[in-house]
Amino acid sequence: MKPITDLIKDLADQHGRDRHNLLPILQGVVEQEKYLSEYSMIEIARELDLPATEVYGTATFYSFLEYTKMGKNVIRICKTITCSMKGEKQILLAIEDMLKIKVGETTPDGKFSLLQTNCLGFCHKAPAMLINNEVYTELTPEKVREILTEYLNQTTEGGPNVN
Ligand code: FES
Repeated sequence: MKPITDLIKDLADQHGRDRHNLLPILQGVVEQEKYLSEYSMIEIARELDLPATEVYGTATFYSFLEYTKMGKNVIRICKTITCSMKGEKQILLAIEDMLKIKVGETTPDGKFSLLQTNCLGFCHKAPAMLINNEVYTELTPEKVREILTEYLNQTTEGGPNVN
């Protein structure tokens, strides 16, 4: 695992140092660290020459702001209006039922954390969710169970994450 300052520098080299590159950089940090510390946000702000409040605001909007370490796979369900009108609740219930955790919790084996987030920009294919960096759209309870089964099988076999 890279030191956080090296990781942020590499991500900034890879994505660029403009304001609109903030999101992939936040995602890159969360992917390695499983959460976003205050130190990471300050380092990102410094690397991109942005106010720390802007980094904090973006992280909060996308619910990347976690003070505790997240599970290996972080599920973020979109809770914004289109997804909510198109069955987000049923998706959430299906996940909670399958993983036996509620929003904000992590499974005891540390494999999954469940969170909600704001609009992911896939409203035309709602309901949508993110697992790590992967977007899943047009979800149904059946589809979400299949997706999670895939992750469960991969993590059970000790294989790489589905990203
Ligand atoms: S409202 Fe859910 S992706 Fe836009």
